[in-house]
Amino acid sequence: MDLSKVEIICRKYEKKPEQLIGILQDVQKEYNYLPREAVERVSLELNVPLSRVFAVATFFGAFSLTPRGKNHVCVCMGTACHVRGAPNVLSEIERELGVKAGETDKDLKFTLETVNCVGACALGPVAVVNGEYHGKLTTQKVGELAKKMKE
Ligand code: FES
Repeated sequence: MDLSKVEIICRKYEKKPEQLIGILQDVQKEYNYLPREAVERVSLELNVPLSRVFAVATFFGAFSLTPRGKNHVCVCMGTACHVRGAPNVLSEIERELGVKAGETDKDLKFTLETVNCVGACALGPVAVVNGEYHGKLTTQKVGELAKKMKE
């Protein structure tokens, strides 16, 4: 694995241990997740114990230590979305993308996750696709979204 990008990122943050979260965010942006080798290199570059880097990487839900798909889909299953049909939306997304909630497909095209509220309850049911909110989802809208992601 080419870790030169990790070194560049650490240098950008002047190898300051207090910049660990920002560094991990940039590393994750680069690789789409936090590969173990990259986490080890961050630990070396910042001279911070590996256990501490892993503690930060596992504490924040935004970090992933396993490979993620090119498209990240997060379906809200909170109460407001649930009563407006989120379970049907989730089933349809699983069917369309061929991946179950909490999983990434083997081609690393899609990662599907669920959360309990994304703060847009009035728009329920809601899914966040690659950082973009999609509200008042129907099975038809899901089909259109899936088509776009497959392009
Ligand atoms: S419950 Fe879905 S956005 Fe709040």
